[in-house]
Amino acid sequence: MSSSPTSGHRLLTLFPLALAAFLLLGASRLKIESSCSKTSCKHVLQRVFSITAMHKTKIKSSSDGVDYELESYDALRNGSCNIFEGEWVLDEPDSRPLYTEESCPYLTRQVTCLRNGRPDSLYQKWKWKPYACQLPRFDAVKLLESLRNKRLMLVGDSLQRTQWESMVCLLESAIPDSKKSMKKIPPRRIFTAEEFNASVEFYWAPFLVESNADHATKHRVQKRQVKLDSIYKHSKNWEGVDVLVFESYVWWMNKPLINATIGSLGIKEYNVPDAYRQALQTLGRWLDSTINPLTQKVFFMSLSPTHIWSWEWRAGSNGSCFNESSPIQGPYWGIGSSHQIMNAVRDALHDLRINVTLLNITQLSEYRKDGHTSVYSEQRGKLLTSEQRSQPEIYSDCIHWCLPGVPDTWNEILYAYLLYGPSRH
Ligand SMILES: *[C@@H]1O[C@H](CO)[C@@H](O)[C@H](O)[C@H]1NC(C)=O
Ligand SMILES: *[C@@H]1O[C@H](CO)[C@@H](O)[C@H](O)[C@H]1NC(C)=O
Ligand SMILES: *[C@@H]1O[C@H](CO)[C@@H](O)[C@H](O)[C@H]1NC(C)=O
Ligand SMILES: *[C@@H]1O[C@H](CO)[C@@H](O)[C@H](O)[C@H]1NC(C)=O
Ligand SMILES: *[C@@H]1O[C@H](CO)[C@@H](O)[C@H](O)[C@H]1NC(C)=O
Ligand SMILES: *[C@@H]1O[C@H](CO)[C@@H](O)[C@H](O)[C@H]1NC(C)=O
Ligand SMILES: *[C@@H]1O[C@H](CO)[C@@H](O)[C@H](O)[C@H]1NC(C)=O
Repeated sequence: MSSSPTSGHRLLTLFPLALAAFLLLGASRLKIESSCSKTSCKHVLQRVFSITAMHKTKIKSSSDGVDYELESYDALRNGSCNIFEGEWVLDEPDSRPLYTEESCPYLTRQVTCLRNGRPDSLYQKWKWKPYACQLPRFDAVKLLESLRNKRLMLVGDSLQRTQWESMVCLLESAIPDSKKSMKKIPPRRIFTAEEFNASVEFYWAPFLVESNADHATKHRVQKRQVKLDSIYKHSKNWEGVDVLVFESYVWWMNKPLINATIGSLGIKEYNVPDAYRQALQTLGRWLDSTINPLTQKVFFMSLSPTHIWSWEWRAGSNGSCFNESSPIQGPYWGIGSSHQIMNAVRDALHDLRINVTLLNITQLSEYRKDGHTSVYSEQRGKLLTSEQRSQPEIYSDCIHWCLPGVPDTWNEILYAYLLYGPSRH
């Protein structure tokens, strides 16, 4: 994808500096900075748009008959259905959400938007409908059976932690209270289904490679420093894990440059996409030298989009994701979603000897401007006060997602790949 260095730089700088505030517990006050004039941002936006104009493929009638279900499994296995191309529908509103804030005891306060005061709940009801097939129905017991005597581990930052929380909630209702447990062994959190001897784990590593943000709770966002060629401190804990799911994005995007080290070279400022490529190479070397493709599966989540400026989807407006209650209709790609990072991921996975499956959830999540926690969340480990909530322009978190919500769909897709994915051996 051709993008001039200046526009690439522009895209990165656009990513708000403000972000920092939400990535951490020790958040400072958020400022929405408009580091570009409205017109030039729009210009960039249009350029990105024309590149990613969506190609609608055939739309299957959404009859939900058994035949169509079986056909869908075939279409997934033989690769004729691109599960990432589709639309959000309210077909069977009663089928969503798949669990509730009340039913799942493991949800953290960061994601329970209704309990935190969110007035609307339609965001829990949308179902992702691929054009060419349907997503298999999530069957917790089936997944637990397939994880018997196995470990599933999600590795990454707070977005990945939300996906992990979602997965735990999707599974836990199938297990009686006395047969499940949750423990924290920082930087890991481990959910265990005892009868299945299966665990679903989260591992905090926001840059995947080593960094000074690796402490599970005391991590600073401002003076971040990344060791682009060191991963062992983390990766030794990933050895032998049966299913690994990686993700890393927002922590890189705070500024266009990042302080990093490679080998014995001292600390240097690197351009973020270059540094990101180096980090993925380090991960790739570990994967190629350690993963047994016959017994282990590896996935990589594409970047989770943000919805920070409402003018991106509603010309002339001047808000955030706050007060958004329905998905974006039609083609949309936000300026916060870096094509340079996308390409870095594509290239890195392409260069590997083992197969790593990219779950390209960016586009489907782009539509969901309504899915973020906005002011119904916490900062510095405390719920926003009503006074803070009345200032969405300062306090909206348009990076993280409510649960139940969009990350449930990421897990339905992971489920589809684990149980019905194209066979890879
Ligand atoms: C894959 O399966 C679907 C559904 O059964 C079928 O319509 C399609 O023709 C198959 N494609 C290939 C390439 O086998
Ligand atoms: C339980 O699962 C672990 C891997 O998660 C495995 O090493 C161990 O052998 C399993 N135990 C039994 C009794 O199968
Ligand atoms: C890198 O570190 C130096 C020294 O601490 C600091 O002045 C500079 O702003 C940092 N650069 C970035 C991109 O954070
Ligand atoms: C956008 O909103 C902010 C605060 O909400 C305000 O300070 C600013 O003047 C507004 N800008 C425009 C162009 O309306
Ligand atoms: C939120 O949306 C409602 C209706 O859609 C509107 O009446 C209200 O003014 C909006 N509030 C803000 C702060 O934008
Ligand atoms: C992911 O999908 C988007 C559009 O849906 C596409 O632009 C992008 O290139 C894909 N990423 C990779 C790494 O294939
Ligand atoms: C990777 O997957 C392809 C099919 O998608 C298969 O042909 C190839 O053998 C696989 N490679 C390995 C190392 O499993």
